[in-house]
Amino acid sequence: MKTRGLIMLNIKVTLSNESKEKPNPDELGFGQIFTDHMFVMTYDEGQGWHDPMIKKYEDLSMDPSACVFHYGQEMFEGLKAYKTAEGEINLFRPDMNAKRTNRTNDRICLPQLPIEDFIQAVSELVAVDHDWIPTAPGTSLYIRPFIIGTEPTLMVHPSMSYEFMVILSPVGAYYKEGLNPVKIFVEDEYVRAVKGGVGEAKTGGNYAASLKGQMRAKELGYAQVLWLDAVERKYVEEVGTSNIFFKIDGEIVTPELSGSILPGITRDSSIQVLKSWGYTVTERRISIAEVFEVAEKGILEEVFGTGTAAVVSPIGSMFYEGVEHVVNDMLIGETTQRLYDTLTGVQYGSVKDEFGWITKVKPVEALVMNETRLKDFDVIDSVEIELIDKKKRTIVGKAAAVKAKFGSSVIADVKKKANDNLEIRLDVTFPDDWFPGGTYIRMPE
Ligand SMILES: Cc1ncc(COP(=O)(O)O)c(C=O)c1O
Repeated sequence: MKTRGLIMLNIKVTLSNESKEKPNPDELGFGQIFTDHMFVMTYDEGQGWHDPMIKKYEDLSMDPSACVFHYGQEMFEGLKAYKTAEGEINLFRPDMNAKRTNRTNDRICLPQLPIEDFIQAVSELVAVDHDWIPTAPGTSLYIRPFIIGTEPTLMVHPSMSYEFMVILSPVGAYYKEGLNPVKIFVEDEYVRAVKGGVGEAKTGGNYAASLKGQMRAKELGYAQVLWLDAVERKYVEEVGTSNIFFKIDGEIVTPELSGSILPGITRDSSIQVLKSWGYTVTERRISIAEVFEVAEKGILEEVFGTGTAAVVSPIGSMFYEGVEHVVNDMLIGETTQRLYDTLTGVQYGSVKDEFGWITKVKPVEALVMNETRLKDFDVIDSVEIELIDKKKRTIVGKAAAVKAKFGSSVIADVKKKANDNLEIRLDVTFPDDWFPGGTYIRMPE
């Protein structure tokens, strides 16, 4: 288990002075309700990323010629924050989302974003809006980081300016009454992505391209589309917005990452967990013909999708060229269920995090923006101070005090040391009567 890392960005936090009404936890859907705050950071050619801030969630104002509206230069990510039974806040493998962000950015010519900055932006926003994380079983706080090209120009070239933003949405349980196998439609006309294209990048265009097939499947009564490869319409790629796994005669097979498949974080986690249980997991090309052949032979034991939204979703039947192929009598398989229970158990903290996948977020109860504000309180319960080498990004000194008076020698001494190379991080606990349960951190400005 990791605790949140060093403070890299000096994020300016301006709290909204009103808090929206929290949704009824029984009526949560997906991505329709947003929290009180958002994270925003700007990029300008020559200047790099600058002005990170957390502020009120609000409309954007942008030039209509901004290149994102015309040539779709944008990327997004998706991950979740989970509340454990003990009230702790867990992020599941945010470093993987940060790394995938940079692979996407490379493919569509967006600037790179330091991994620690991505994690910090997400963690601090979740910390600020932590009371929006729903606690009913299966619910969570969906985190949507995204980057858009903002240069006002109709020229087709990489934008000279960008905004990186993070928004949060409380989401309901995907399966309210236990895991339910779904019926899927094997799409043999439309394709999602082609090798050499942008299928392995998380960019909006891929999703626009998938809508037509998705609509057709829905109209025909299927929950999802199973995508085949774009060249031969022969090999299985993904299911809806999930990766796909087959259990064939005891062995697990999943399509190899060929360039047109999104490298899912749940896919990677599933492979690691399944291998740790002793399964052979093979990443290879698998044709739809082979899937039905093994189904005919009676050795297609389980089929499931993996992704952040549903984690693991069992597939009960596949419709292809006029024939409905049923898997495991439309029942959830034992491996699918075990994998779902394990991954969600790690996410919600009820299963041991053996792989070190959880990053904890410390909630923010009270914000102190700068020394002037901090001085308003003359006694603090405790303070922990870290000196951080800005270049190496390592902690080079620590100090702590209990029942400290602000401006006491501990803090004064440390503050003298701040310079171009050193940052100071303060972690302050206030007496309960000022900020009930409150702890907070902020670099002095
Ligand atoms: C096209 C596509 N494939 C697969 C996935 C699953 O990826 P992950 O497990 O990282 O959520 C997603 C969702 O993010 C997706 O959009």
